[in-house]
Amino acid sequence: MGVRFRGWGTAVPDHVVTNDDLSRTLDTSDAWITERTGIRERRIGGTAKSLGVLAGSRALADAGVEPADIDFLVLATTTPDRITPATAPMIAAELGLTCPAMDVNGACSGFMYALRTAQGLLETGNTRILVIGSENLSRWVDWNDRNMAVLLADGAGAAVIEHDATVNEILSFRLGANGEWADLLTCEHGGYFQMDGKEVFRRAVRVVVESAELALADAGVTADQIALVVPHQANIRIIQAATQRLGIPMERAVVVLDRYGNTSSSSIPLAFDDARSNGRVVAGEYALFTGFGAGMTWASAVMRWA
Ligand code: ACO
Repeated sequence: MGVRFRGWGTAVPDHVVTNDDLSRTLDTSDAWITERTGIRERRIGGTAKSLGVLAGSRALADAGVEPADIDFLVLATTTPDRITPATAPMIAAELGLTCPAMDVNGACSGFMYALRTAQGLLETGNTRILVIGSENLSRWVDWNDRNMAVLLADGAGAAVIEHDATVNEILSFRLGANGEWADLLTCEHGGYFQMDGKEVFRRAVRVVVESAELALADAGVTADQIALVVPHQANIRIIQAATQRLGIPMERAVVVLDRYGNTSSSSIPLAFDDARSNGRVVAGEYALFTGFGAGMTWASAVMRWA
């Protein structure tokens, strides 16, 4: 059956924190952060709910649909406002949705996990689903820890996807998880994010390349046919290494991490929306979405725009 994207929306906090701002309180520098990560500034503020409501309402408006037209809300978040209730029902209430609403935690693969879940929900009889990725990572960052403080940030992105009998925009999906690598990136109750950056880096490149190659094969699409890569925005060097191994020119990858840092579940929709507003989403062309995150989790999908 066919699935198509009907609208997108994003939201980022107004407050900009530059590398120089961080260098005032941390033993780091704009030169180090830019060179080792590609990040120049990030947005800090809001909550998973407030950013999710804003991105969600913009996606509804972009899709031209009413709250009553949505059959399900799937929210990807690593940083729910509370352990319980989930953040999705609170976002739903604010948006005027009366449908089921739930959170999915796939860390930085979260938006892809939520999209895959939504695709399954469409296959089992729902018509239209709001998928949101929303993160308030800054709340769980130790701002004295330069390892994490330079990387993580806040933001949200959302998409309305719907059943369509005539077209199909999601051609393939490959997800994975390996809990044996769980300790590489964690945030304990009451604690802060901690990470073995080097190991995450190495494995991230590997799982992104492997899952992307499988997704491409499933879709019957070759790497040179991919016009747009929408990768998780963690580190420019991960994007460079993965696209190089896949044989896709780096210019085809969307990069927004220079402005937004790593916003986990929000990074893929933030990147996609940027590509779309710059005219990079063209009917008939193929795109590769790919992400990885704590868990460790990963996911790749091949799209073809109707
Ligand atoms: N500022 C200045 N110097 C620093 C900083 C910093 N913020 N952080 C580390 N350094 C120093 C180190 O101490 C080290 O110094 P030394 O050579 O004297 O020992 C040197 O810089 C190099 O450190 P490395 O850790 O080797 O730096 P690396 O190039 O590996 O970059 C980074 C570190 C940016 C964390 C990288 O490994 C990375 O991006 N890893 C993947 C992270 C990732 O993708 N996380 C997202 C997962 S998704 C999710 O679920 C949130």
